[in-house]
Amino acid sequence: MQLVTMFREIFGAPAEEICSAAGRVNLIGEHVDYCGGRVLPAALSLKCRVAVRKNGTNVLRVAATDIPEIVEIDLNAPENYRDLKWGNYQAGVVNEMKKAGYRLVGCDILYDCTVPFGSGLSSSAAIEVATAYALAKAGGNKIDKTDLAVLSQKAENNYCGVNCGIMDQFVSANGKAKHALLLNCATLEYEYLPLDLKECVLVLTNCNKPHNLIVSKYNERRGEVDKALLLLKKRIPNISCLADVKPYQIEENRSVLTPLLYRRARHVVGECDRVRRSAEALRTGDLELFGRLLNESHRSLKEDYEVTGIELDTLASAAQNSPECLGSRMTGAGFGGCTVSLVRKTGLERFKENVGKEYTDKIGYAPTFYVAEVADGIIDEGEVKE
Ligand code: GLA
Repeated sequence: MQLVTMFREIFGAPAEEICSAAGRVNLIGEHVDYCGGRVLPAALSLKCRVAVRKNGTNVLRVAATDIPEIVEIDLNAPENYRDLKWGNYQAGVVNEMKKAGYRLVGCDILYDCTVPFGSGLSSSAAIEVATAYALAKAGGNKIDKTDLAVLSQKAENNYCGVNCGIMDQFVSANGKAKHALLLNCATLEYEYLPLDLKECVLVLTNCNKPHNLIVSKYNERRGEVDKALLLLKKRIPNISCLADVKPYQIEENRSVLTPLLYRRARHVVGECDRVRRSAEALRTGDLELFGRLLNESHRSLKEDYEVTGIELDTLASAAQNSPECLGSRMTGAGFGGCTVSLVRKTGLERFKENVGKEYTDKIGYAPTFYVAEVADGIIDEGEVKE
């Protein structure tokens, strides 16, 4: 059913505006955003699209196309909704917008999210950023997409208990069709790199692993790299984040780190270097090199950072062994979710067949494939004309 038709059925009045924010794939630069590193994500056409109407009250009423019951959030008391299963991202965003001084008005919002949940493609960032944009616009505020991204990240940190970095929300807001976004997470400076993949496409493969313990493990990794930084600061002058450390300095100062912290830090520093080389490879059109860097990134995430698991490792190695694939790695936080693979168009069907079979034989259920379409972050479709 059309979003606007469903909106009218659920809320009993017509929608006024439609906008959306994107899911994302991170091409490379994994688990470095919260270490001040540079990342290279792209916004996807999989997105969270919302229909919005000002309701003249002080209440935000939210529903979703697949969860049609209405959840109400009092704009005067957004603190009170932390335990909501659905609606807590929105309440977290309201909470941060209030703190930041945005003018908020009551709205009815219907969400239609095509980013699969738990896929590692940032459905949560898409929901947060779409909410922030819709509410900022409805309240007549001046809109700065980066500011909306930052407060969406704070919502996730302060309200939902995920200590995430800025990457997902930033690209969900600022992504650009046909381009990857090279973002310096320490300064939020960014540039768009044209994504000319010639005879190749990016294939996202969802391992479909159920029940992820991702939040606790994610926060644990953050704690580990914070410790590694503190120890390295005692030895290396003038570093403010792990991304400031050079690969040789990790080796020189290995003795101050425990073996585990050494491996964690080695991943971060090596990954930052791979981002630099990947951006260069994309600029010069060297897709073979870019593919090899994807493979190296996966190995480092598996062996040093330990955020992969049998499902993602099986997908990545099946892909890497396929002749039509130039490179493959897990994308996002890990532990489940998706891999991203650079695949020649001519071999796409064979790739899906072979990787699908190898994975299903080993894991016992099938993965899902999507060919990534790189799109704009926030899209304002404007007023609804019925
Ligand atoms: C999640 C977080 C991001 C980033 C990635 C790993 O997607 O939300 O901030 O840390 O994991 O690169």
